[in-house]
Amino acid sequence: MNEFVFHNPVKLIFGKGQLQNIPQELANYGKKVLVVYGGGSIKRNGLYDEVMTLLHVNGMEVYELSGVEPNPRVSTARKGAEICKEEGIDFILAVGGGSVIDCVKLIASAAKYDGDAWDLVTKKVFAKDALPFGTVLTIAATGSEMNAGSVITNEETEEKYGWGGPLNFPKFSILDPTYTLSVPKDQTIYGIVDMMSHIFEQYFNNAKNTPVQDEMCEGVLRAIMENGPKLVEDLNNYELRETILFAGTIALNGFLQMGYQGDWATHDIEHAVSAVYDIPHAGGLAILFPHWMRYNVKVNPTRFAKLAVNVFGVLPEGKTEEEVALEGIERLSSFWTSIGAPKTLADYDINDLKLELMAEKATANGKLGKFSSLDKEDVLSILKASL
Ligand code: NZQ
Ligand code: ZN
Repeated sequence: MNEFVFHNPVKLIFGKGQLQNIPQELANYGKKVLVVYGGGSIKRNGLYDEVMTLLHVNGMEVYELSGVEPNPRVSTARKGAEICKEEGIDFILAVGGGSVIDCVKLIASAAKYDGDAWDLVTKKVFAKDALPFGTVLTIAATGSEMNAGSVITNEETEEKYGWGGPLNFPKFSILDPTYTLSVPKDQTIYGIVDMMSHIFEQYFNNAKNTPVQDEMCEGVLRAIMENGPKLVEDLNNYELRETILFAGTIALNGFLQMGYQGDWATHDIEHAVSAVYDIPHAGGLAILFPHWMRYNVKVNPTRFAKLAVNVFGVLPEGKTEEEVALEGIERLSSFWTSIGAPKTLADYDINDLKLELMAEKATANGKLGKFSSLDKEDVLSILKASL
């Protein structure tokens, strides 16, 4: 494995009733709290009222920013930063999914920056300071609650980029599976696809001697594949929600990625697709990942075959490594289709008109990937195969 430093300062507070910790966690940060949330799911499931009551009872001065979009927009983050500056906000509380949390990460840094928030996303400047923030997670998917990544869309330029840095770690994240019980079926499926994709992005790396990491990745994938389909059929099952919520955090909080660099090209391609078409992130991943895999099998068939055998249960006897690898990819594709994930770009009415544009956007900052290196033509081939 490669040399590494692991540092994750997020205080993870997991389980039933843990919302009650909010006042104690906020105690060190001052009274002015900006609560940021999405399109209203937290009002429908009662979480909004619970959070507001806790804050008010404990004497907080509460400000609100609602309407953070799935695929959060820089314009919304700008609004948030404006409120922080005008009102002298001490702490930001994200209550929602990855989109709300990612938006809050940008608000927190933009609130301490004099220029435009988009400069931080495009890495024109690196944040030197940020407001402290915490999260109450409501959907199992991105891992944003315990990582320093944030993905933001510029709706004017149709660009969507990930950015990050040490100031992007939440001070704490509260994960009570109860509040994920209301996540609808489609979003539950997307979450499962997203967390599996995060593990694939990490599993496909070029480091040597990573048996512990491999077992961890394969084990979490098996747990998701065993419990995910049951959850899709039984959305009110607390224990299944708990398992999938925890899996989503573990999948992308850095634990699985010690000692190597993951690939992440499929995410970059997907971000270009959802920048142009505004489709759900994991809907795009479900379509693209099997094609990225087929395109890259020859880079390291042994690696793909290992995944096929250990996670997808492919029997290797009498088959070449490449045959085993391809069978594994077929099984992944069938698994995702079986739980209800989309399979082709046509499922989102995406045709060949803007493939070139998306390939251009995906590679605007250079080649993609660490496991293999993809240029614009490679990306175009993967997109064409995904039609
Ligand atoms: O907006 P509301 O009304 O809250 O509804 C949301 C939204 O419509 C709904 N939802 C969330 N919790 C719910 C609920 N509905 C009912 N009950 C609940 N408890 O679900 C919809 C999707 O929410 P969103 O936050 O967009 O989902 P997700 O967590 O999948 O986040 C997706 C965003 O994260 C980025 C994606 O690109 C996308 O923009 N990513 C962020 C990453 C990171 N920061 O590490 C990594 C990922 O790979 C990903 O790129
Ligand atoms: Zn993702």
